[in-house]
Amino acid sequence: MNETHLALQAATKYYKRVKAVDSVNLEVKKGEFLTILGPSGSGKTSLLKLIAGFEELSDGSIRLNNQDITKKKPYERDIGMLFQNYALFPHMTVADNIAYPLKIRKIDKDQIRERVRNILQLVHLADFADRYPSQLSGGQQQRVALARAIVFNPPLLLLDEPLGALDKNLREKMQLEIKHIQEKLGITTISVTHDQEEALVMSDRVCVMNRGRIEQISSPEEIYQKPRNKFVAEFIGEINLLVGQITATEGEKLVVKLAGDNSRSFYALAEQSLSSKDVYIAVRPENVQLTDEAGAYENILHVIVREKIYVGDSVKVKAETSYGEEMTIKASTRHTEMLSVGEEICVGWNSKDATLVPAET
Ligand SMILES: Nc1ncnc2c1ncn2[C@@H]1O[C@H](COP(=O)(O)OP(=O)(O)OP(=O)(O)O)[C@@H](O)[C@H]1O
Ligand SMILES: [Mg+2]
Repeated sequence: MNETHLALQAATKYYKRVKAVDSVNLEVKKGEFLTILGPSGSGKTSLLKLIAGFEELSDGSIRLNNQDITKKKPYERDIGMLFQNYALFPHMTVADNIAYPLKIRKIDKDQIRERVRNILQLVHLADFADRYPSQLSGGQQQRVALARAIVFNPPLLLLDEPLGALDKNLREKMQLEIKHIQEKLGITTISVTHDQEEALVMSDRVCVMNRGRIEQISSPEEIYQKPRNKFVAEFIGEINLLVGQITATEGEKLVVKLAGDNSRSFYALAEQSLSSKDVYIAVRPENVQLTDEAGAYENILHVIVREKIYVGDSVKVKAETSYGEEMTIKASTRHTEMLSVGEEICVGWNSKDATLVPAET
């Protein structure tokens, strides 16, 4: 999976004066599943349209299999696509819908029948070949659309919010189904979503976009545990950002003093070069541990419990530092049972369970 399949160089798209895609550099490996995540209007769909050829680049270039396709028409790119409003042909049966991309490619009839049969099995719709779209559930329709997008063995598949319309259960099931099909067929896939969980579950790498730019592109673990900036940190999951300043270096660790209370030293790993000494210590609520031993963790903080919120599998504790900064801790019901509102508690974390991000945005 090391061969580059798709490469965007300084890809830029203006719609009149709106810069929707801003000098994006992106390389996608053969067989990779890449998810683009970002807020509404950040340029995700625009980026997919540039790759598909539905929109022309204002600047930059796109290479597919080492060939410049910047000027190629969509149908010359041989890319499979599944958009959110996946519009099946209502007057065609499931089988005919799926056969359509093969027909326009002038594949012979016997082969079409064979391929449609195989793909129907793959998406678990073998018994639905003769139905019309209106006779299917939303999830079944989405699977037909997926089958139609991949039946001609496209080397590259683009998915724009493919599961957006589905309920949570069906969405989770389809996430795994799409992932399995994609792996089985080795299709390079770029998928766009609003749903951070979907991004973390399905992808080899996640690309976070903001205002037409890529903020970070990393493995799901790294995006979640080691966000490089405040935007990525806050966009995915919940996180505590403690304002501080780097005051010294000790071996591979940086010493940070909190802005509100410099009586204590905090230790953090230097995972990226930081141009300023002003930083946030970024630590996920589930990485903050309740403790009564001062020496149990490298970093210790005393906080006052302000609220306990039961969230099913755990309890969220909203707490406040001595200088008024809010902090969220997530722990098991068992560990939080004894805590009462107003009580001072000791919490801690080790340097490897947090990261530093630059204070400027
Ligand atoms: N055809 C168009 N003409 C003018 N502006 C457009 C056009 N398409 C998109 N835009 C603008 O470009 C920016 C990026 O839009 P895009 O559709 O790529 O966002 P998105 O990340 O897909 O958002 P969403 O999550 O809401 O689908 C937005 O500011 C949008 O208003
Ligand atoms: Mg969009």
